[in-house]
Amino acid sequence: MCGIVGYIGERDATPIILNGLKRLEYRGYDSAGLAVLNEGNIEIRRDAGKLNHLEALVRNTPIHGQIGIGHTRWATHGEPNERNAHPHLGSTGEFVVVHNGIVENYLTLREELSAEGTRFNSDTDTETIVHLVEKFYASGANLEAAVQQTLKQLKGAHGIVVMSSREPDKIVAARVGNAGGVVIGLGEGENFIASDLPAILEHTRRAVFLESHQMAVVTRDEVRVTDMSGWAVEVKPQNIAWDPVAAEKGVYRHFMQKEIHEQVRSLTDTLAGRVDFDEGRVMLHELGLDPQSAREIRKIIITACGTAAHAGMVGKILIERIARIPVEVAIASEFRYADPLVDEHTVVLAISQSGETADTLAAMEEGRSKGAKLWSIVNAIGSQAMRIADGCISMQVGPEIGVASTKAFTAPLLDLYLLALHLGDLRGAIDEDRRFSLVQDLMSVPALVGECLDREQAVAALARKFKNTRHMLYLGRGINMPIAYEGALKLKEISYIHAEAYPAGEMKHGPIALIDRSMPVMALAPNDPWYDKMISQIEQALARGGDVIAIATDGDELIADLTPNILWVPKTPWLLSPVITTIPLQMFAYHIASLLGLDVDQPRNLAKSVTVE
Ligand code: F6R
Repeated sequence: MCGIVGYIGERDATPIILNGLKRLEYRGYDSAGLAVLNEGNIEIRRDAGKLNHLEALVRNTPIHGQIGIGHTRWATHGEPNERNAHPHLGSTGEFVVVHNGIVENYLTLREELSAEGTRFNSDTDTETIVHLVEKFYASGANLEAAVQQTLKQLKGAHGIVVMSSREPDKIVAARVGNAGGVVIGLGEGENFIASDLPAILEHTRRAVFLESHQMAVVTRDEVRVTDMSGWAVEVKPQNIAWDPVAAEKGVYRHFMQKEIHEQVRSLTDTLAGRVDFDEGRVMLHELGLDPQSAREIRKIIITACGTAAHAGMVGKILIERIARIPVEVAIASEFRYADPLVDEHTVVLAISQSGETADTLAAMEEGRSKGAKLWSIVNAIGSQAMRIADGCISMQVGPEIGVASTKAFTAPLLDLYLLALHLGDLRGAIDEDRRFSLVQDLMSVPALVGECLDREQAVAALARKFKNTRHMLYLGRGINMPIAYEGALKLKEISYIHAEAYPAGEMKHGPIALIDRSMPVMALAPNDPWYDKMISQIEQALARGGDVIAIATDGDELIADLTPNILWVPKTPWLLSPVITTIPLQMFAYHIASLLGLDVDQPRNLAKSVTVE
């Protein structure tokens, strides 16, 4: 979704803002702009399209200043053109705003303001914000109070940043609800503002995250955080460990490819410090569980969206098989309105790489309001889903830039396995021998992922063979059924090829009618308890003239006799097989999209962090 960057200090704000916006490109956007304050005047440059358009504009008509704000916009109200791009100026040219979120009552506000004589220059909901700030300022409020009064008028969730030539020594930032984060990066004689950490990491590692209903008045030397009534709030700056170099593409063509290849490391990091292989134990201190509190849990509801929900579906099987606790998986956008059966013995476990997905946050709030304990598995440090949870397992994968999630899918698979073991141990659901052997199984996972990655050429060859298909069916059963869903999602979101996934047993109830020469079938048939069922499914597809690509375990001669199209995976204990079978599917989708010449990292219509409903 939209990205925000702001700067105040001694340096030229323009390149800092442009650079920061570049680091947020991965979030998806369709226009961009920036405003700087120069000798008492606000100057603006904006353009539709990618950041290189804005950069060219700034090269041709430069602007400089030591305080400024910038934005990458993902259109919600009004076309993605120059006049709708942020920042938006008020009527006097003295106030300027950038905004993430949706002003739900903007039509009413616009009518009211128009009736009072305000002229609008864009079709956006955001423009109402700057006119309101201007109006409250004119009636005697200072900038901070004008922003507070404005926010009281707005319905919906917002992150806003405001600058004014009337108070040229400050930027005011505010957050209401979950329309993305607002983070203040702390420097020496300079400070930074952003919607996301990657925008400011090259300048500072100390940051303050605004909670909902907080605002910050940021000057060169000071950051003052208050609530929406102006009362000071004490905040503790956090030290961020991410390496900005990790956010560079390196030798890879696309971030997605880089991130697929980072999984050996991210999975190693996921285990580090949490698994004692000698003792055969898992440590998840972040959840603060003891045997008593673990036994009190009667039900776990995993809630998430998209790829994260697929991880949750695997998690259900892991937790039920290992810890013997009933688990439901609820799509967050449904759960939030489902009036779910939740009580104080229920844990609502949210999975989210961004930690800012509006539906997932709302689902967490729904769980909380009904008395559930809240846990989360989150990648983005300091995000809302991390902060509001009673316990959070932090994914150890670093920033994920490609919009299609890869390493932030496999990490929670392992996190859920660890959680299942931890719960099973605390509740006495597994004996020592089983626990020890399940822990030992983890040891080889990063290396097995590495073996899959080494086979990229074979995957690319199959991608070349199938790149012109327009439809595909993905089939799996049991623990690999969610991986069929995930494989199909990866293919459709980056290659725009129609891909559908089914639990293979459902084929005979309808979808089998689709199978003919033009409908290749991706069948997940590793060596797991559902293997025989998958073989019969493959045979049925072949009998109807379909091409079958099988994901099969090394040495499987039976499958080798059935189809020439095989993505081989190394032998893996079945509870961990989803981590392994996912890898060729990620690479298959990546290579098809890349062969089709598509924008792999920023597929159309998609954003990295979905902060609107
Ligand atoms: C697909 C993808 C999305 C996200 C979904 C939830 O590759 O990335 O389906 O999984 O939008 O996002 P998070 O994990 O940020 O809550």
